[in-house]
Amino acid sequence: MAISGEEVRRRLREFAAQWGGYRGSERAEAQTFLNGLLECYGTSRREAGVRFEEAQDGGFIDMVWPSVCIFEMKRPSEADRLDAHRAQALRYWQRSGTARQAAPPYVVLCAFHRFEVWQPGAVYTEPRTTFDLAELPENLDALAFLAGREPLFVADQSELTREAVVLVTDLYDRLRERRAADAGTLRDFVLQAIWSMFAEDLQILPRQLFTQLLDALVSDPGRSSVDELGRLFRYLAEPAPRPEHGLYADTPYANGGLFATPAEVHLEPDELELLRSACDFDWKRVEPAIFGALLQGALGRERQWALGAHYTSEADILKIVLPTVVEPWRERIAACTTLADVGAAQADLARYVVLDPACGSGNFLYVAYRELRRLEASLRRRATDMRRSAGLREQETLALHFPLTNMRGIEADPFAVSLARLSLWMGHKLAVDELEIDERVLPLADLSGIRRGDALRVAWPRADAIVGNPPYHGSQQIRGELGDDYAEWLRREFGVGLKDYCVYWFRKAHDHLEDGGRAGLVGTNSITQNRARGPSLQWIVENGGVITSAVSKQPWSGEAVVNVSIANWVKRPAEPPPEALLDGRVVDVITSSLRPLDLDVSNAVQLHSNRDHAFQGPIPAGAGFLLSETEANELFDRPEAHYSDVVRPYLVGEDITDDPLQRPRRYIVDFATRPLQEARLWPAALELVEQRVRPIRATNARRAYRDRWWIFAEARPGMRAALASLHRYIAGIAQGKRILFAWQEPWTCPSNLTNVFAFADDYAMGVLSSAIHSHWARDQSSTLRVDIRYTPTSAFETFPWPDPTPDRREQIASLARSMIERRQA
Ligand SMILES: C[S@@+](CC[C@H](N)C(=O)[O-])C[C@H]1O[C@@H](n2cnc3c(N)ncnc32)[C@H](O)[C@@H]1O
Repeated sequence: MAISGEEVRRRLREFAAQWGGYRGSERAEAQTFLNGLLECYGTSRREAGVRFEEAQDGGFIDMVWPSVCIFEMKRPSEADRLDAHRAQALRYWQRSGTARQAAPPYVVLCAFHRFEVWQPGAVYTEPRTTFDLAELPENLDALAFLAGREPLFVADQSELTREAVVLVTDLYDRLRERRAADAGTLRDFVLQAIWSMFAEDLQILPRQLFTQLLDALVSDPGRSSVDELGRLFRYLAEPAPRPEHGLYADTPYANGGLFATPAEVHLEPDELELLRSACDFDWKRVEPAIFGALLQGALGRERQWALGAHYTSEADILKIVLPTVVEPWRERIAACTTLADVGAAQADLARYVVLDPACGSGNFLYVAYRELRRLEASLRRRATDMRRSAGLREQETLALHFPLTNMRGIEADPFAVSLARLSLWMGHKLAVDELEIDERVLPLADLSGIRRGDALRVAWPRADAIVGNPPYHGSQQIRGELGDDYAEWLRREFGVGLKDYCVYWFRKAHDHLEDGGRAGLVGTNSITQNRARGPSLQWIVENGGVITSAVSKQPWSGEAVVNVSIANWVKRPAEPPPEALLDGRVVDVITSSLRPLDLDVSNAVQLHSNRDHAFQGPIPAGAGFLLSETEANELFDRPEAHYSDVVRPYLVGEDITDDPLQRPRRYIVDFATRPLQEARLWPAALELVEQRVRPIRATNARRAYRDRWWIFAEARPGMRAALASLHRYIAGIAQGKRILFAWQEPWTCPSNLTNVFAFADDYAMGVLSSAIHSHWARDQSSTLRVDIRYTPTSAFETFPWPDPTPDRREQIASLARSMIERRQA
């Protein structure tokens, strides 16, 4: 029964008071606690189908409410160490989803006195909110899903980050509109100002120095930002000297390349106000994982991305960073049994290099860096625990910090390179603060290891892990986007023909890895399919790569219309990984089509028995062959010949999908393969073709098309021979969300956007329209965005045609008949 918010609050107050003093550790108490919590929200455990102690991943999840939430309980003494249990809770969550039921959206990690509420599908790396038991009544909305409502979390970091981007973008736009300086200087100015605001909010710049300078500038129109901010940026660029007194006396030395050219830009009063209001923003709360990408979109080349429309969500970045970077380290840390093991792991971690060879604004690198720092902290904790339990004295751990410079990137867009560096500098300070490490963040680290270049042309630095999201250009777009010379160079350099652009990154990454090295890349979905799979995933698997974790297909978070695949692999591992994770499920082996081994049909061969039954429709190559209905009727009325021999109804895909009768609505002149001499028997039709098609064909690069202008470019004599003796045939659309089939009479000429099946029996129509053939075709075909493209050679010729008993055969035929009747009714 739904109860009021006030009632929930009242109950939660009582609940908090009741459990506030609990110090025990019995598991049974966890169930009492959870039952009580559900009751506060008016939910009965039994009625809701909530289960306690569900076996999972070798352990037990304390509470599972399918499709709603998971609760992982810890004893009260762990309240200050919940972060040490996050990995386990998130692993439970990852593995709680199945093909039939998605993982519940919320995860609560709770040590009786402290709660962490996670929404891992939206934000994977940090809880949406945390609070103590005593604060629970005030935070009742954060657990509102216990009452069947949407929860409310206090602040949404991505919204805040967007706000920050809007603030600086507004300023940049004004400056650009009035040409306050050249574009390069304006971008430098914005980046230097952003870092300064971030730095003063995190106390790297003393006394809110940047804000103070702006206050002074706003109140005194006689001063200029060229002098005041310019001077600040100059000091930040130089190690010494500083004035003995005054505002700039203790300005730190930052440089790192960010201040290599201190930006001098004069701001008008309204622009100063804008920048001053940006100072009020709490820059500590900016999320670098998306900040750079948003800013790249907003300030980048021609604003090609609407603000917020294009960036990789953190949840997607983690589908690579977790399996390729974090999990292997977690396993290694868990396997450390001696202090010497921990020491060796710390030393190896300090040398561990991550490369993103299409790093954009550095979002993958930032997330990887943040996670590596957390791993480093857990190694330190491990060492401390070991010392303690061995009765050894606490010892300051060696000041061996994971270096920011181990993050390497290559990127074509120079502005994105600057943003990637900025994101990492921010990430450095945020990590040092989060983990309370005693480490200097100034001067800014030299991030020349993140550099501008064409990743396919330059040498890559040594890397233990390669991550990223290389650019998407279909093989058909490469010439248009990158030019013929570049396309030819790609063919020569890689020797695999012209493929989707990302294919070359998969290849180069695998070549570049040392044995035991790992990579995780996002690619267009084509890497799992026919032409592009061979030189990418298949080549990797055939050359010592083992795919450890993959997403077979998902819409990309940046641009919903693109389907992508994600593959993480390890090159020649010392020991084969015991299992793999495919689309969130544990499987033995992931194949190069990103399928579990037993379901993989990608290597199916073309069957001899299926030859000469299915064809792509003829390709006219010349719109002039088409006739309107009036023109066709005029020809039919002419006395000198039977024009219906060469003027035929013309079937296109839409006729099959849009018209219940699935009949053609246009006409076409089709001389089949007749020589010119014979075509002259239909003079009026030939004349039309000569007027409309011949001039266009005359410019065609292929001689056969030029010379035989009255005949379709691809006339498909094989198809014509196969159809010759049939009183009807089956046509199917060549591309669509679902492939539909239709009966056609022999007079109808199919277009090249249809496929033709040389069958006249209802049984064949039943088999082609069956779910099994549809699944097979989907597996065998390439996809274009979300459509499948049915190609007879890969979808039909490989299909094992069933051989049922006569009864079953008739049953299928009868079903096919009623399907067509219903469609046409
Ligand atoms: C799909 S984006 C991914 C960037 C970033 N990780 C993200 O999620 O926003 C691909 C990036 O590759 C860059 N790029 C394109 N061609 C490149 C090349 N030949 N070498 C290096 N980078 C390239 C683009 O500028 C873009 O930033």
